[in-house]
Formats: sequence, structure tokens, C-alpha cells
Amino acid sequence: MSKSFDVVVIGAGPGGYIAAIRAAQLGLSVACIDEWKNAQGGPAPGGTCTNVGCIPSKALLQSSENYEHAAHHFKDHGIEVKGLAMNVAQMIARKAAVVKQNNDGILYLFKKNKVAFFHGRGSFAGSGEAGYQVKVAGANEETLVGRHVIVATGSNPRALPGVEFDEKLVLSNDGALAIPEVPKRLGVVGAGVIGLEMGSVWRRLGADVTILEALPAFLGAADAQIAREAQKAFTKQGLKMHFGVNITAVKREKKGKAEEVVVEYNDDKGAAQSLACDRLVVSIGRVPNTNGLAPEAVGLALDERGFVVVDDECRTNLPNVWAIGDVVRGPMLAHKAEEEGVAVAERIAGQHGHVDFNTIPWVIYTSPEIAWVGQTEQQVKASGREYRTGTFPFAANGRARALGDTTGLVKFVADAGTDEILGVHIVGPMASELIAEAVVAMSFRASSEDIARICHAHPSLSEATKEAALAVDKRTLNL
Ligand code: FAD
Ligand code: NAI
Repeated sequence: MSKSFDVVVIGAGPGGYIAAIRAAQLGLSVACIDEWKNAQGGPAPGGTCTNVGCIPSKALLQSSENYEHAAHHFKDHGIEVKGLAMNVAQMIARKAAVVKQNNDGILYLFKKNKVAFFHGRGSFAGSGEAGYQVKVAGANEETLVGRHVIVATGSNPRALPGVEFDEKLVLSNDGALAIPEVPKRLGVVGAGVIGLEMGSVWRRLGADVTILEALPAFLGAADAQIAREAQKAFTKQGLKMHFGVNITAVKREKKGKAEEVVVEYNDDKGAAQSLACDRLVVSIGRVPNTNGLAPEAVGLALDERGFVVVDDECRTNLPNVWAIGDVVRGPMLAHKAEEEGVAVAERIAGQHGHVDFNTIPWVIYTSPEIAWVGQTEQQVKASGREYRTGTFPFAANGRARALGDTTGLVKFVADAGTDEILGVHIVGPMASELIAEAVVAMSFRASSEDIARICHAHPSLSEATKEAALAVDKRTLNL
């Protein structure tokens, strides 16, 4: 016999599990299906984000940053460390424990909110008057019926053409988060978010990291001034980056008893080059995942790249079928997936959920961290709008000096006439936390003067935000 629900959510990543909880909060009966398995074969809800994305990467970034501080910066504070050593197995075990806490936390939240969780693969099996049938293939096979269905099946790493991930020599994000020992030479293809974060982890632990990037310039999506500052910092740290490369072959070769990977490429001048490394991370973007979903069984439309086609409100071509997160257009970010999940649950319940795509922040958790919200100076310029900018360097911020971390700056871009904030861009310590103030300000359509007139605690990094806002009107106080 099939079980019927108001809402069946397929996928328990940040999009799906948050949608399920919000729908349950609103009094709807909800099922959530997820197929992810932990090492013991049990359920591991949380999706890419919890299992092989946001959470484990931040765990490793923290461990490796602690190591780097102990190795290079503690001595500035008068702390002497003798016999410092890195136990990679312990670092990976800690990461696994952090992941498990999050998996267990989501299972607890499902119970608390009375979301029925089904462990297995969900696929469309047809539709009828009562709603859509979704078959769950897992330990127990069953069919659910959903009056509404939310597709939240996420994304998978994109491979280089003809180069499969083996997760030993050629690694996706999955393998890059589980390297059992520090590689001597780590190659990375793609100087995007994963390349920079994972490259930083293994560089801090002693790997010689080389990143090969197809585009001619660094971090094209970021504000150019911020990207320049970040590139300078990463280069100083020893991250080698080559731009404008065209990869022609990736070969696995025997080297004595071991194996190595050789990447053949043409450099930005067209000259043939090669890079030999012990492991290669391929981080060239992600592709939408609808494997096993059987969209054809109900006629769910996908676009030519495999994304589920949705409108601005996450409605698909089928009535009462919605799609959210990485499997639809827009940035592939956990908080974007969550916002869409909440909005869709609210729309199903008859409310007016809304996602403001203009105020979705981006954060890269390197050191210095990079964060931004809104438009870059280049985008505003290209739009023809008159604007003013204000910047403030962390080198002139007391808290940053006390921390010993003065790299970077805060930058505001504001409308020249109304002073409305159009974008805020940060490279520097705790940019991931500082950007929240800018998101709030932009959500309320604040002006740079609004920020400049708000009291910020002293000494704090947030004073750099206030000073950058003051700088829009050329009246910084501490510079
Ligand atoms: P996913 O998290 O991919 O979840 C989809 C779930 O659906 C999975 O559990 C999958 O098993 C399940 N599923 C798929 N098909 C089926 C099916 N047919 N039946 C049952 N279950 C199914 N974003 C940030 O905002 N901040 C970060 O710091 C960040 N760091 C990242 C680091 C890395 C290394 C990576 C790879 C990504 C990172 N991201 C980060 C991106 C973030 O992980 C994704 O944007 C986010 O997970 C998307 O959420 P989602 O719910 O759409 O899909
Ligand atoms: P990305 O889109 O951030 O970067 C991919 C990079 O690879 C780009 O610079 C691209 O020009 C380059 N590239 C593409 N093809 C190439 C080729 N053939 N040769 C060389 N370079 C090539 O993708 P990435 O790093 O794989 O991450 C995927 C997504 O996961 C991100 O876009 C982001 O949405 C999410 N993510 C978010 C994080 C965060 O919020 N902190 C952390 C990690 C991932």
C-alpha cells in the first residue's frame, strides 16, 4: 500500500531537508527521501554540503590553519612549539566526526518535526488524481504519493572529458577531502572555489600545490581589486597558479613502485608544458544530478545541460512539482538551496515565500577569506550607472593588528546619487562573518551613510566595514 503525503521531498541536502522541515512546521505532512550512505551503509542526510562539501571542507580548513599557525605564527606570540607534527589520519577522523554530528542532527530534526525519512533512491513512477507516485528503492521498497513533490537532488562534480575520477590519483571533491597523507606534489585543475579551498588545505600541510586554470585571469566572478589582493596573498603563501592553460591530456604513469599523474597542457602563450604530481584534484565546476530520478516517467522538463527547468519561484513544467538548489539555475550554494527550500514550502502552504537573488553572499574560506554580496565595481560600471567606491585596509584596523592578520580590505560600491549600497567586497580575516552586515544592509536597501552612522564595537574587524562606508564619502577617520 502506498503512503500519502502533502509533500514528498527527493533529496536531503540543505535544499531538501530545510524544505521538509519548513513544510512540516507549516502543518503539512512531509516525507523526505535520501539515498546517501555513510561508511556503514546507514543514512547520511545532509547531501553534498554535509558529507563532501561545505562542512568537511571547513573542518579541514580549520585543522590545516591551526597547523599553519603553530608552524609559522605562534612564535610571533612568544609561543615555542617543539616537535610539531601533523597526524593526517586524526585530522580526517575529526572531519568524519564533525560530518556525523551533522548527519545525526538532521535525523534528529526530522524526528522532532515529524518528517518521515526514507533511506533510498527516489524516482518518479507516475501520477494520478492523488498526486505523484515516487518509488523508493532502498532496504525496503515502497511507493509514496505526494500531492506536491520537491526535487532537491543536487549536483555532481564535472570531470575533464575522458578523465574519470578514481579518487586515488584523480580526485573530485570527495577524494580531495580524504587524502590519507600529505602529497608532495598536488596538482589542481580549476582555480575556482574548491581549487582554492582544497589547494590551501594541502599547501598549509606542506604540499607543493600547482593550480592550472583555463581562464586568463584570477577569480573572474569577484571584484577585480579584491581578486588582485587575494592573488597576491596566495602567491606569497606559495600557491602556484597558471592561467590561460588548455589541458590536452591527463596520464597516469608508473614511477618506480608508485604511480603519478602527468597533466599535459598548453600555457597562455601556446607552449606545450607538463605538470607531474602525486595526486590531481579536478575542480572545474559541477553538473546537475537527476540520476535515477526518472524525470521522463512524468514528463519533467530538463534543459540541455541537465538542469530541471524552473521559473523564478521554482515551479517546474508540471503542476505541484517544484525543484530547488543545485539541480536548478543559479549559484550552487547551500544557503541559496536553503532559501529556495523555505520559499517553496511556504508557497505550497499558501504563503508568499521569496528569495532575493541580489543579496545572496559568496564566501571563499581561504586565508585571507574572500566574501562579497551584490555587484562588483566592474558590473556597476558596465551597467552605465554612476557610482562611488570606498575602501579601507585591514592594515589600519586595530583588531586586525592584534590578531596579526592585516591582509586585505573592505570595499563598498554605492550609487553616486542615492548612495544605495550596490555591492560590498571583502578580502581579509573573518570576511565570512563580516559579510553578514552587508547582506542585512542591502536587504534593507541601506545607503553607505547608514552603515557609516551605525556604532560598531571597538576594537573589531567590523570597524573596517564602517570605515569603508565612510570612505565612500571620503571621510575615513582612521586612515
Ligand atoms: P545536495 O547537497 O547535493 O543534496 C542532494 C541530495 O539528494 C544528496 O544527499 C543526494 O544523495 C540526494 N539524491 C540525489 N538524487 C536522489 C534520488 N533520486 N533519490 C534520493 N536521494 C537523492 N556551498 C556553500 O554555500 N558554502 C560552502 O562552504 C560550500 N562548500 C562546498 C565545498 C565543496 C567541496 C563542495 C563540493 C560544495 C560546496 N558548497 C558550498 C556547495 C554546496 O555543497 C551545494 O550548493 C549544496 O550542497 C546544494 O544543496 P542541494 O540540497 O541542492 O543538493
Ligand atoms: P568553480 O566554478 O568555482 O570553479 C571552476 C574553475 O575551473 C573555474 O575557474 C573555471 O574557469 C575552471 N575550469 C573549467 N574548466 C577548466 C579546464 N578544462 N581546465 C582548467 N580550468 C577549468 O567550480 P568548483 O571549484 O568545482 O566548485 C563547484 C561549485 O561548488 C562552486 O561553483 C560553488 O558553487 C560550490 N562551492 C562553494 C564553496 C563556498 O561557498 N565556499 C566552496 C566550494 C564549492
